[in-house]
Amino acid sequence: MDAVTGAFSYSGAAIAAGLTVRGRSVRTLTNHPRAGSGYDIRPLDLGDPAGLRKSLEGVECLYNTYWVRFPHGDVTFETAVEGSATLFRAAAEAGVRRIVHVSITAADVNSPYAYFRGKGRVEAHLKESGVPYGIVRPAILFGGDGVLINNIAWLMRRSPVTLIGGGGRYRVRGIHIDDLATLMADLGERDDSVTVDAVGPESLTFADLLEHIRASIGSHTRLLPVPGSVFPAVTWLLGRLVRDTLLTREEYRAMAAGLADSDAPATGTIRLTDWITEHRDTLGTAYAHEIRRHFLPQRAG
Ligand SMILES: NC(=O)c1ccc[n+]([C@@H]2O[C@H](COP(=O)([O-])OP(=O)(O)OC[C@H]3O[C@@H](n4cnc5c(N)ncnc54)[C@H](OP(=O)(O)O)[C@@H]3O)[C@@H](O)[C@H]2O)c1
Repeated sequence: MDAVTGAFSYSGAAIAAGLTVRGRSVRTLTNHPRAGSGYDIRPLDLGDPAGLRKSLEGVECLYNTYWVRFPHGDVTFETAVEGSATLFRAAAEAGVRRIVHVSITAADVNSPYAYFRGKGRVEAHLKESGVPYGIVRPAILFGGDGVLINNIAWLMRRSPVTLIGGGGRYRVRGIHIDDLATLMADLGERDDSVTVDAVGPESLTFADLLEHIRASIGSHTRLLPVPGSVFPAVTWLLGRLVRDTLLTREEYRAMAAGLADSDAPATGTIRLTDWITEHRDTLGTAYAHEIRRHFLPQRAG
């Protein structure tokens, strides 16, 4: 029996499916349960260490995806770091043999970016837990019902102009969630403690990525560079219009500083451009709402 956080959310869904294909039975910790999956469903209540410990009893490997993309309301990076530490302690106390954890490229307790600093602290808590671990560090995930690429396409389908912050020469290197799931399941079968970047075979400039999306979906939007200093205000304003957070100031700055790229060997095989081409008919036809997915009370079903 393995445990996966968020088997009905984004990367957790791919990880749980990949483990099932390998013949593993899956327990999931989540606050977005769904009936009929065949998974053993438990709450992801990070304020209940005893409940977490009970939920993790009998689990061999915990696959942890838990994190928050940005602070919102009472949920902050600080609460996410503490919640992650609680989860790791509960796993250690429950006798979990191994933890495979999703971090981010360039996670660092000394990073100038709060997201990356928080992820660095979570990695440190994992190492202190005493449980052997595999840490995977993706830059950007794609595939499935992901938000980022979809919402860029959604904007391009509707707007005559698409703005590119700072000219878009910074690079992004995504990994498909199925490749991430395979990498994590492979690491789950090892005994040593390792940290690897989770990156696909393709590193693209952001400008080339936008151009490929534009051409693939047949959009006539015009790509217009704007100064990097102005761009976060533009994405903030767009976010207000759709009542969501499209891209935070920090996400943009980190990407523009090159943190969404990596020189590491590829640990995935699916090319982002191929995936975009393959999904050109559906990409961006509906908006994917980040805040509704993660911060508003769940709806039944
Ligand atoms: N998405 C990317 O492009 C990207 C890039 C680099 C690194 N990563 C890392 O990959 C991991 C997984 O990301 P993902 O996009 O696949 O996440 P996700 O599936 O949407 O969520 C992962 C888990 O975190 C929980 N969660 C997310 N937001 C939450 C919130 N606001 N409050 C409480 N719980 C919350 C989810 O709870 P529920 O089960 O209740 O839904 C789920 O169990 C994260 O550690 C992230 O830092 C992602």
